[in-house]
Amino acid sequence: MKTMAWLPMGETLYKVGQKRFGRLTGDPMRRLPVQIEMAQRISAMGSTVVGKTCLEVGAGHVPLVPIGFYLSGADRIVTVDLHRRIDWGMTKHALKWIAQNPVLLEKLYGQVCPRATFQERMSALQRGWEDPRRFLPLARIDYMAPADAAALPLPAESVDIHFSVTVLEHVPEPVLRGIFTEARRVLKPTGMALHVIDPSDHFQHTDRSISAINFLQYSDDEWARIAANQFAYCNRLRASDYLKMFAEQSWNVREAKTVVNDESLAALRAGFAVDQRFQGYELEDIATTQLDVLLTR
Ligand SMILES: C[S@@+](CC[C@H](N)C(=O)[O-])C[C@H]1O[C@@H](n2cnc3c(N)ncnc32)[C@H](O)[C@@H]1O
Repeated sequence: MKTMAWLPMGETLYKVGQKRFGRLTGDPMRRLPVQIEMAQRISAMGSTVVGKTCLEVGAGHVPLVPIGFYLSGADRIVTVDLHRRIDWGMTKHALKWIAQNPVLLEKLYGQVCPRATFQERMSALQRGWEDPRRFLPLARIDYMAPADAAALPLPAESVDIHFSVTVLEHVPEPVLRGIFTEARRVLKPTGMALHVIDPSDHFQHTDRSISAINFLQYSDDEWARIAANQFAYCNRLRASDYLKMFAEQSWNVREAKTVVNDESLAALRAGFAVDQRFQGYELEDIATTQLDVLLTR
């Protein structure tokens, strides 16, 4: 990853490697259920996605979560990324799969939007999937890259739903603060922020011989030597660090769902030594490998 981050063609090589050996598949069923759960949480707050303006931080290679918001009836979805990573071939492939599975998806989306809305959106997608460059603007999905979520070209109070999926753990803490300051500016007073955060060791996703908190054994300097490049970087913040930052910025944390990894907790109890940076933390906090938050201004 370090070498690829340094090479001029590194971005392309990294993507080829991720497609072949990693987890970059563009499979819609790895993201649409996550988006449906977000829409359900919005409904549970007495609101809806239908007719809303949404903003995604960190589009990545395939804008699947924005496509999910489109299927749920959002009016417009702006998706921004620091790097222009969109893969049009994978996006077309994902749209094709969606176009070919209307029955399954109608069942899922029936839980979060009116049937007629879903059917109208699905019909447009079935007509347009073959040309994603044309379809995304028709679906009012605006892909903006390179663009920084901490400095957006959007008017104040113009967004209803600010969201990200497995992005925030890749962002250095000072930038994260900037992203949430900007979120407060662009969100309407009635707006919500929903973020799915994965504070686990991402090397463990493809190497099951290490634990989900393996990376917490390293000092910041050691970790910087291992992972300070655009592909591998993770900030290693724990769930409590995010919650503290939200409190400092006066967000209302309406929901904070955490998943504690049992194996990691057992390893900690058996003496797995974390770096001194993490020594004042509760064991459950250290072993938390998922944090889903819903915030309001
Ligand atoms: C793990 S990837 C995105 C995953 C994608 N959301 C998904 O659902 O699969 C994280 C992305 O966040 C982007 N990113 C990091 N910092 C950012 C910032 N300040 N503004 C916008 N995008 C950012 C990175 O360039 C990267 O493409």
